[in-house]
Amino acid sequence: MSHPAKNEQSEEFEMVATTLFGLEEILAGELQKLGAREVKFLKRAVSFVGDKGFMYKANYWLRTALRVLKPIATFTVSDDKNLYDRVKKVDWKNYLTEADFLAVSTSLSTDIFNHTQYVSQKTKDAIVDQFREQTGKRPSVDLDNPTLRIHVHVEGNVCTLSLDSSGQPLYKRGYRSEVNLAPLNESLAAGMILMSGWEPNRIFIDPMCGAGTLPIEAALIACNIPPGYYRESFGFQKWKDYDQDLFDRIKEGSLQRINEKGFTILGSDVSEIVVRKAKQNVIQAKLEDAVKISAVSFQDFDPPDGNGVVILNPPYGERMNPGDIDALYKSIGDTLKKKYSRYTAWMISSNKEAVKQIGLHASKKITLFNGSLECRFLKYEMYRGTKKGGVQV
Ligand SMILES: C[S@@+](CC[C@H](N)C(=O)[O-])C[C@H]1O[C@@H](n2cnc3c(N)ncnc32)[C@H](O)[C@@H]1O
Repeated sequence: MSHPAKNEQSEEFEMVATTLFGLEEILAGELQKLGAREVKFLKRAVSFVGDKGFMYKANYWLRTALRVLKPIATFTVSDDKNLYDRVKKVDWKNYLTEADFLAVSTSLSTDIFNHTQYVSQKTKDAIVDQFREQTGKRPSVDLDNPTLRIHVHVEGNVCTLSLDSSGQPLYKRGYRSEVNLAPLNESLAAGMILMSGWEPNRIFIDPMCGAGTLPIEAALIACNIPPGYYRESFGFQKWKDYDQDLFDRIKEGSLQRINEKGFTILGSDVSEIVVRKAKQNVIQAKLEDAVKISAVSFQDFDPPDGNGVVILNPPYGERMNPGDIDALYKSIGDTLKKKYSRYTAWMISSNKEAVKQIGLHASKKITLFNGSLECRFLKYEMYRGTKKGGVQV
């Protein structure tokens, strides 16, 4: 059954925020804090209820969401012909005109269809055919810069059609123009920091910071800066029912909450080239006061006295020989034991063999995916002297 778009500002509707594997709980926590109602866990997603203003707010504020989808129709589906017919029953002029540019994406968890592209194509055909039959004209397709993104999700025999209110995925914050070989996805970086339990009154260190993603995300959290602050646009701004005043009010309300207190958020990397890029990204994010980046190896870096959280995203060894990667991980373990006795350490890696060289007991092991690589996000509690004055690890 299809539902027409609801334009009243206070009208509530269900939304789905998608995320990366393992971040569902963190995302649900973010949504609850933001004031979402009826928050429910899904696979790599969280559903919730809110009004149009809340949809804008969710896009602007969620650190661990990839997209905020607004479902407009749910129906059972049996094959491609049936999919085409059901999509055509939705009254698409509620959402777009012949002058619009369309992009359709698909996710599948079903035996009915094998190819996401085929489902996207069928859906697009049904939409443009409806326009052509009714008006003689049709919206165009523009996969890179559409005015409306439609998402199709088929789970078993249930198909959900959604409008994608985010446009470009939300991890594309807009502050990072300079990257090195393996930058972390910004939403993953934010999720790792939120999972680590770090509080801004403690020290934060990323001693292998690459493009600076973790320190910058930590500073956004500390300064209460919305992750959407740097973005040029969101998908919902091109929707027929876009309410600019409402979005302006949400943004103004958010900026008043930015907190400029001093924090100790440090990034460093052994590569001078990479450090230059990280510094450029920090400047682009206007966070020079909150984040300090330096060119020094992890082994030579001296963490400030006090306690805090250190998060490491070391090389995983794809471009290194096994002896070198084992030696690097062994020296990470040795340095943690020697210099970080009052810190909580976290490390993400896909290299299970190299991780064994750390020589510390992980008190937590969380599965996350860095792109397509299955990783463990490991917690090492480093604390000194509870038994016989030795290092307890
Ligand atoms: C996977 S990348 C980190 C990516 C980073 N999280 C980002 O978002 O861009 C690993 C980084 O570790 C750095 N690295 C390797 N060995 C190091 C060492 N001994 N000390 C400090 N940095 C090191 C590399 O230069 C590289 O930038």
